[in-house]
Amino acid sequence: MSLPQTLRAGSSSLSALPRAMFPKYTSLTCRRYKSGPYGYTQAKAFVYSKYGEPSDVLSLHTHSISPSLPSSTLLLRTLATPINPADINQIQGVYPSKPPFTSLLGTQQPSAVAGNEGCFEISSVGSGIKSLSKGDWVIMKNTGFGTWRTHTLAEDSNVLKIENKDGLTPIQVGTVSVNPCTAYRMLKDFEDLKEGDWFIQNGANSGVGRAAIQLGREWGVKSINVIRDRPEASETEQMKNELLELGATKVVTESELMEKGFSEKVIEWTNGGREQVKVGLNCVGGKPTSALVKCLSQSGHLVTYGGMSKQPLQLPTAALIFKDIKFSGFWVSRWSDANAEEKKRTVEEILDLTREGKFKDIPVQELKWEWGTEEGVLKEAVQGTLGGFRAGKGVFVYGDI
Ligand SMILES: NC(=O)c1ccc[n+]([C@@H]2O[C@H](COP(=O)([O-])OP(=O)(O)OC[C@H]3O[C@@H](n4cnc5c(N)ncnc54)[C@H](OP(=O)(O)O)[C@@H]3O)[C@@H](O)[C@H]2O)c1
Repeated sequence: MSLPQTLRAGSSSLSALPRAMFPKYTSLTCRRYKSGPYGYTQAKAFVYSKYGEPSDVLSLHTHSISPSLPSSTLLLRTLATPINPADINQIQGVYPSKPPFTSLLGTQQPSAVAGNEGCFEISSVGSGIKSLSKGDWVIMKNTGFGTWRTHTLAEDSNVLKIENKDGLTPIQVGTVSVNPCTAYRMLKDFEDLKEGDWFIQNGANSGVGRAAIQLGREWGVKSINVIRDRPEASETEQMKNELLELGATKVVTESELMEKGFSEKVIEWTNGGREQVKVGLNCVGGKPTSALVKCLSQSGHLVTYGGMSKQPLQLPTAALIFKDIKFSGFWVSRWSDANAEEKKRTVEEILDLTREGKFKDIPVQELKWEWGTEEGVLKEAVQGTLGGFRAGKGVFVYGDI
């Protein structure tokens, strides 16, 4: 087996790690030893060297990782990583946070590893780390690390330990830090939502939307949930029932929201307007958001966190002048960077609810990533997440590799 080539120092989040950690990467294509003859861990990463459509720019890169770990370093084996809309936008180059392209993995062109979220198991622990052990599960403290890879090195300061992994699956842990955290913070941090209050949201069947419904239910907060009309009426009905079972108070379609008189219906549901619709959550944008804002109570608050329709936000002028509606944005990456301790606490609280059966899994489409899984299959899985009306979120689930 041919061994080490020299590595140039790069500037990704990994660049904070000592150079000695990036030993000798080499391209390995054929026979694979789980642990190479010199104790090297053989690894694969889904990388991109320029921005574009995932199917055009992603490639699977094979490399090896040295067994000699610097003292504050961990070797992680990946268990599950979701494919979130932001991951795609990042690869397309239209997302504000852009991991720098580096040569750390020895790719022909400087590259970044795709993906921002995931659940990892610790395989080896540097001698200076006392708070983490082999077998612990961790998630990344911040987004932008590059998670779509079979193994990685990380500093202990890069990760958050899952204190109690009992009763949890890698998918539950690997999808907790972006969507559920976003829903949790948006319901907690903008208005003082009390038992009996309401919120209204679009994209209600998304990962964030489902999390918001369930947290609302747990906290006694009622919800009006807007979904897009499905191609078949029976599918729309099925989706409505699914969200009602999760704890949604009302579920309506976008076309119902847009009907004249919808806001009067909301007044009826809210006991003649005596109960307040204090918060609106918007991940869609476009004209329907204007109709959603009209359902907010006096001094309500619209929090925008996504733009799935790719349409500019349309807002009713009267909402600003006469109803004093507030408009804010939320970005979980910014929040996580500034609130590491609170992120850990939020994650643990949601995982406790999950363990207790009070927080149901999002529907997922699992994609097995084994050592032999071909690049084309992985690319197809990523590209396939770009359409609407999906049966579930794509999640890479890694074999014992
Ligand atoms: N700001 C933040 O910190 C933050 C954090 C997490 C997520 N987000 C954003 O939140 C949104 C949902 O993310 P997620 O991971 O929860 O989503 P997800 O589970 O992957 O589901 C995608 C959602 O987007 C909807 N959708 C897809 N194409 C659409 C279109 N053209 N017009 C309107 N809706 C469309 C889908 O509805 P259908 O089933 O009808 O297709 C579904 O509800 C995304 O915009 C994401 O970027 C933001």
